Amino acid sequence: MFNPLDLDDESAYQQWREQKIRAYDNGHKDIVAIKSGKPDRNEVQKILSSCHQFNYCLYKLQDPQQGSKHFVREMGRLLGLERLDGNLCSDEDNITSIQVRSSGRHAGYIPYTDRKLTWHTDGYYNEASKTIRAMVLHCVRSAKSGGENLMLDHEMAYILLRDENPQYIKAFIQTDVLTIPPNIENGKEIRGAQSGSVFSLNPLSSSLHMRFSARTRNIEWKDNAVTLEAVECMKGLLNENNPYVITYGMQAGEGIIANNILHNRTAFIDSEVENEKRLLYRARYYDRVREVVGRRS
Ligand SMILES: [Fe+2]
Repeated sequence: MFNPLDLDDESAYQQWREQKIRAYDNGHKDIVAIKSGKPDRNEVQKILSSCHQFNYCLYKLQDPQQGSKHFVREMGRLLGLERLDGNLCSDEDNITSIQVRSSGRHAGYIPYTDRKLTWHTDGYYNEASKTIRAMVLHCVRSAKSGGENLMLDHEMAYILLRDENPQYIKAFIQTDVLTIPPNIENGKEIRGAQSGSVFSLNPLSSSLHMRFSARTRNIEWKDNAVTLEAVECMKGLLNENNPYVITYGMQAGEGIIANNILHNRTAFIDSEVENEKRLLYRARYYDRVREVVGRRS
């Protein structure tokens, strides 16, 4: 089995790499159509298969009206996503309504504005016990314009970095390579500093996990030449000229399921009409999308 943290097993890497690239060459932008308010067996298999190969899947509800929080929760369960992460800005059910907020705690965080969100994986500031392994983003209403998501499978990011220089991977698996300073609100520390690696292994599935943010403030990279070069190389991969980067503007009833791949959001212009403003439901999980039985290698 391929271990992405073991840089000595070159032949296992080459085999895994080829398999990934072949899958992308065969096409990866299919959107799974969901006919009713709950995916059927066939639809679930298609989603699992896409997540297995690309770590993400796009879906489209035939009837956007079915896109409730209940739908998001139930679909997640069918995919092995059970343990929801609650965070400071979640709703009571731990599914977050992402919309522009002009007051309250949310207003201090960029996801709740119409501004662009830089590239990141979700929960990169979380402590290890709250690692986010998967997420669902479901679009209830899209913006008047903008608000697209760009995405990159973190396993492809790994391949592109390793092909550029294996030392970059070595730098990114150091457990003190990336530190996020404490979160302080009104003078009170609500989260301590979090230090950890960029690449790690999910102990349950031996799959690759990535922790990353392209932000330049409130982030501390280990201060050595190879780390800083690796960060620059990584940032250079995060744009639409990279053939593995997907750009998608979700419409009402559409969504993304992903094993916490790299993503961003472009700035947007919201409707002036209150109940037509952009609204997304976001569920973050400590679980990873379950594997297609016997297929992970
Ligand atoms: Fe995110």
